[in-house]
Amino acid sequence: MNKLAVTIADQNFSLRLKNPVITASGTFGYGLEFAPYGDLRKLGALVVKGLSLEPREGNPMPRVAETPSGMLNAVGLQNCGVEDFLRHKLPLLPSADVPVIVNLYATSGDDFASLAGILGAEPSIAALEVNISCPNVREGGAAFGQDPFSAAAVTETVRKNAGKKPVIVKLSPNVTDITEIARACEAAGATAISCINTLSGMAVDLAGRKPRLANILGGLSGPAVKPVALRCVWEVSRTVSIPVIGIGGISCAEDVLEFILVGATAVQIGTANLMQPDSAFQIIQNLPAACEKYGVTNWGDLRGKLATEPAASAF
Ligand SMILES: Cc1cc2nc3c(=O)[nH]c(=O)nc-3n(C[C@H](O)[C@H](O)[C@H](O)COP(=O)(O)O)c2cc1C
Repeated sequence: MNKLAVTIADQNFSLRLKNPVITASGTFGYGLEFAPYGDLRKLGALVVKGLSLEPREGNPMPRVAETPSGMLNAVGLQNCGVEDFLRHKLPLLPSADVPVIVNLYATSGDDFASLAGILGAEPSIAALEVNISCPNVREGGAAFGQDPFSAAAVTETVRKNAGKKPVIVKLSPNVTDITEIARACEAAGATAISCINTLSGMAVDLAGRKPRLANILGGLSGPAVKPVALRCVWEVSRTVSIPVIGIGGISCAEDVLEFILVGATAVQIGTANLMQPDSAFQIIQNLPAACEKYGVTNWGDLRGKLATEPAASAF
């Protein structure tokens, strides 16, 4: 297939990608760290590490642990802060040739508004991705993304302040019904939904009788979460009419096709970048052959075309 391009758009905002492969926030640094492993301009887009208004040091060590077919992380949203990113990192990225999507997070609506205002005014940023898996400190500390009302409120706030940028809202799988949250974000003005963020988990050091992460709890990612991510993308894409970006355990071109088949318009590569730093570039290179192997001649023929029985249920 020659035409790998996809468009992430709603009625008002649009982002064109030369292929559907994006690198996921927190697994690709600020982009430049991965330039030695491939040409950044070949990516569909890149998402930078989650940015906050002020720099953050993150959680104490140890903050990553390997698990069967995956990893746990409790990095704690360490980042350089929005100002340092705009001044020292963004100018070095080839943003004219690859869309740079900035992942942002905050612990209050006001901070989300300020961040969206700063980032929305920056011409070399292509879109904003809102991480709503962070605690709402003003409302008792539950994550914004665990409640449809606060998820909608954050979406609306970012949308209002983001100028002409598409706003992608990134959902947590740690909820009872992800479609309820997706619907609320769509109604509040999200351009697209990305899912999933990591699954809450923990790992134990039996001999030491202690948790393996200093933070005790962490987020599970990697191939182990792919079935959960596929299920979420399938459910969400049948619920909303805006595009869905699939994330979770993707490590080869066939995985990309699977996510598009269940309804994704594009995908993000996360933990695979940490296992093999040129993963995203390899996946893009292998996409045309995988499309040929599975008879995919255009994305529209594959997207959401999973054959299911009419009465498909959970099991
Ligand atoms: C070390 C690490 C750091 C992450 N940091 C962020 C982050 O800052 N913001 C965010 O929205 N997601 C973050 N994520 C979640 C990933 O972007 C992705 O949603 C998740 O890992 C599932 O995809 P994967 O299985 O391909 O890794 C992080 C994941 C990992 C492993």
